Amino acid sequence: MGHVYLSRSVGSAAEEFSAQLGRELRIGSTSSDPPSREEFLEGVRGAEAILSLVTDRIDAQLLDAAGDQLKVVANVGVGYDNIDVAAAQERGVTVTNTPGVLDDAVADLTLALILATTRRVVESDRKIRTGEPWIWGPQDYVGLQISAGARLGIVGLGRIGMAVAKRAASFGMEIIATGRRAHDDDAAALGVRPAELPELLATSDVLSLHCPLKPETRHLINQYTLAAMKPGSYLINTGRGPLVDEQALADALDSGHLAGAGLDVHEFEPQTNPRLRAMEQVVLLHHIGSAGDKTRYDMAALAFRNASAVLNGEDPLTPVTH
Ligand code: DGY
Repeated sequence: MGHVYLSRSVGSAAEEFSAQLGRELRIGSTSSDPPSREEFLEGVRGAEAILSLVTDRIDAQLLDAAGDQLKVVANVGVGYDNIDVAAAQERGVTVTNTPGVLDDAVADLTLALILATTRRVVESDRKIRTGEPWIWGPQDYVGLQISAGARLGIVGLGRIGMAVAKRAASFGMEIIATGRRAHDDDAAALGVRPAELPELLATSDVLSLHCPLKPETRHLINQYTLAAMKPGSYLINTGRGPLVDEQALADALDSGHLAGAGLDVHEFEPQTNPRLRAMEQVVLLHHIGSAGDKTRYDMAALAFRNASAVLNGEDPLTPVTH
């Protein structure tokens, strides 16, 4: 019987759910550093299941290194652009992800980034820590007040986008959106108006990205779409870094065309763009959208349940079907 391979420790869910696997659980790295590619290739050899993290590249080479007995790759994450799904399907390997359990955590963080950028929270914090003398000023740190009816454009209204819309509506934002749920009744009930991307670009005060990373969405935000954005607007990305051409974004911020940006994810993660790092009007985070304590537990638990189901000959709860 093969083992189950998990590249890094995911906390208490592993202890609680590993018994259900009925297989030995091998953890590649117990530190916060992932195993090297060589260690990963060696660690999956003979595995029946791989519990992958969004930083783990699961491609044909890795699937072949695991061997024919591999049954399932259970991603601990809703995004699965780290997995070559076609290569897995060709080898009869089931792929699963963790939709639903992280919507609220990512939406919370999206609102945090919207507020942090528009109200210049991080800029003010950074400045006060210099210890320089200061006094309240009527024109200091003035930023866009989203509660005054600012327009939010949600690119890719799915589960997470809906959770963002719910929060943004309660802040008094006007919301327009593209995406598979933009025409749904529950979106309309939140006051969301469906629109096409050009309208979102041209009229949104804050543009927030929630579409998956696919070949057709890579660099969706590029020099042309940035030029089409409303002058003085803000870009927020809690989806995937490569949705944005960061050099083009830095140009748009440098020229003053965009007022600011909040990025939880980065084009060349874990590298961050040095030009963006140097800009006061940019807030950069460590891809922490799902890092709520409950959500991280729920993600790991769902991934374990998916792996157990497949290993026990049952249907997984949340398979990737395309
Ligand atoms: C996901 O689940 O895709 C997130 O980006 C990981 O936090």
